[in-house]
Parts: sequence; structure tokens; C-alpha cells
Amino acid sequence: MSELSGRVAIVTGGARGIGAAIVRDFVARGAHVVVVDNGASIDGRGADPSVTTSFTGSLGTAVAPLAASIADPGIAESAVELAHERFGRLDIVVNNAAILRDAFVFKGDVADYEAVLQTNLIAGFALIRAAAPGLRERAKTEAPYTGGRIVNIVSTAGLYGNFGQAAYASAKAGLTALARIAALDLARAGITSNAVAPFAATRVTESIVPATDAQSAYKSHAMSVPAEPVARFVSFLCSARAQHVSGQLFGVRGREMFLFSQPRPIARVTLAPDDDLESVATQVERSFAPSFTPLETDLDAFSSAPVV
Ligand SMILES: NC(=O)c1ccc[n+]([C@@H]2O[C@H](COP(=O)([O-])OP(=O)(O)OC[C@H]3O[C@@H](n4cnc5c(N)ncnc54)[C@H](O)[C@@H]3O)[C@@H](O)[C@H]2O)c1
Repeated sequence: MSELSGRVAIVTGGARGIGAAIVRDFVARGAHVVVVDNGASIDGRGADPSVTTSFTGSLGTAVAPLAASIADPGIAESAVELAHERFGRLDIVVNNAAILRDAFVFKGDVADYEAVLQTNLIAGFALIRAAAPGLRERAKTEAPYTGGRIVNIVSTAGLYGNFGQAAYASAKAGLTALARIAALDLARAGITSNAVAPFAATRVTESIVPATDAQSAYKSHAMSVPAEPVARFVSFLCSARAQHVSGQLFGVRGREMFLFSQPRPIARVTLAPDDDLESVATQVERSFAPSFTPLETDLDAFSSAPVV
């Protein structure tokens, strides 16, 4: 397996869970990887650099650890510098690091909301911003360049929503949009950018507190889903074979791969200038209500048995 031979990647949150599976898959396919991970708890508090150094130590010289928070100022730039210093180039950015601070909207704390956005969304922008000039330069000097890749690891929580996940889902919805904007802004340089919503058994899946029977089913099924298929799909997106795949939103759950639609108008009505609210209501009931999106959470929507 040498599909990523000569490629250099940065994977944030790459020392555990899905990120670690991505790093292992990249290395198995010939890539070199900078692993940025501060070894934080699920809520982002605390830091344990040994999580990162012991993981990268097990993978030899193909990986370089940066045991720091990608949300801290200057760390995105340091990761890009480390890729160049250690491996001589940078091709791939995987924004995977994420934290959770769940709270109902009627109880949540603004500082917690900000902390989640900082790690799960703003840090992703900072890393793309730090990496993009070098990727664009390489596209000019190395044409045809089929290496420039951005993959944002998002979540169905940001598409469907889930109880108490205002911060996490807002950040993930933003990260999905960021992948799309990066795809547009970098298309001329041949750099692709996609979003992947994963499903896999990790410490985060384990921490789910089900709110409905369907959510309980989701959790028990999810605990049997390995992270490796997500990693294989991310490697595909980063391979030369995916040069024409950009701006898309995918999901991976075990052996299932999903392509998600992206919101577009699905119904249209035209009002008269003097229509009153009763007319608006009539139109909404007649033309929109049959197509309303149900108030269903992502855990309910994906509670069926996965194919593993
Ligand atoms: N597990 C699932 O089923 C699932 C579902 C939907 C989305 N996701 C997404 O997949 C990604 C990986 O999730 P996971 O389940 O493997 O979680 P995880 O908690 O097992 O791994 C996340 C890693 O990110 C690191 N991290 C956290 N904050 C960081 C920071 N500021 N800087 C650097 N590293 C940081 C953690 O130390 C940890 O090693 C996340 O983006 C998550 O939102 C996972």
C-alpha cells in the first residue's frame, strides 16, 4: 500500500480514537504525519502530552508529535513548520480534534460554547489558513499536483442536531461549511476539501447518555463499529484517485459509506405584495409543511444496525 507515498499530513487530535486510526492508515500507505494532540479529556480540560508521545513513539520515524492544543495561538503555524522541518513538505490537513461540552440551550454557559467553537471550528480555520499558502505554492511548482487535500471530520450532530449539543453541533455545522468554502477557494489550485461525518466506537461514543430507546440502540450498535473504515475513506480522499472529489459531505459507518445532500431549496412559493399573514400561513401549510424536516436527532436517525 503506497497510495500516499511521499505525502506529508497533519492530523489534529491524531493520538486517540478516529484520529489515531487515520494516522495509522496514512502511515501504512506511505505518508509521513505530524500528530497534533494535547491529550485532553473529552471536555477539553487537562492535557497529557504522554498520550501523544507514546502513540507516535509506537509508529517510528514516519510520525512527529506536537503535544499541544491546536486551539492555542501559533500552534497551527508550528504544526506546518514541523511538517516542513521534519518531512520537507506538507500536502494534507485533517481537522479531527474536537471536544464536547453539552448543555441544554436554557442552561449552557457562553464560555463553554466559545471553548468548543475554538477547538472544533476556529482551530480548523487557523490550520487551513496556515497550510493553504504552501499548498497553493506547491500546486504552481509541482504541476500536475494531486496532493493538496483538506478533510474536516464533522458530525451528523451538526446536520440533524442532538439534545444539549448546541456548542458541538454549531461548531460541526460550521466545520462542514468551512470544508465547502475551502473547496471553492482552493479549487483553482487543484486542492480538494471535503467533510466526513464518522461513526466509530471511541471514548466519546462510550460517553453518550441515551435520551430515547432509539438513542440506546444507537449507542449499543455504535460500540461495535471500528474506526478503521473511516480512516480508509479519509485515505481515499487524500489519494490521487480523489482529485475530482471536492466540496462534498460524506459519512462512514463500518462498511457503509454515505453521501449526504447539502441544503438546497426543496419547495418554492411566490407571494403577492399585499398577502397577509393568513395567506403566508396557507402557503406554508400547503406547500412546505409536507416537506418539513422532522425534529429527529442524529442518534435516532442512525439507530439502525450498522454493517460492520
Ligand atoms: N466517535 C464517533 O462516533 C464520532 C461521531 C461523530 C463525529 N466524531 C468526530 O470524530 C472526531 C474524533 O472523535 P473521537 O471519537 O475519535 O474522539 P476522541 O476524544 O477519542 O479523540 C479526540 C482527540 O482529540 C484530541 N484533542 C482534543 N482537543 C484538542 C486540542 N485542542 N488540540 C489537539 N488535540 C485535541 C484529544 O486529546 C483526543 O486524542 C471528532 O472530530 C469528533 O467530533 C466522532
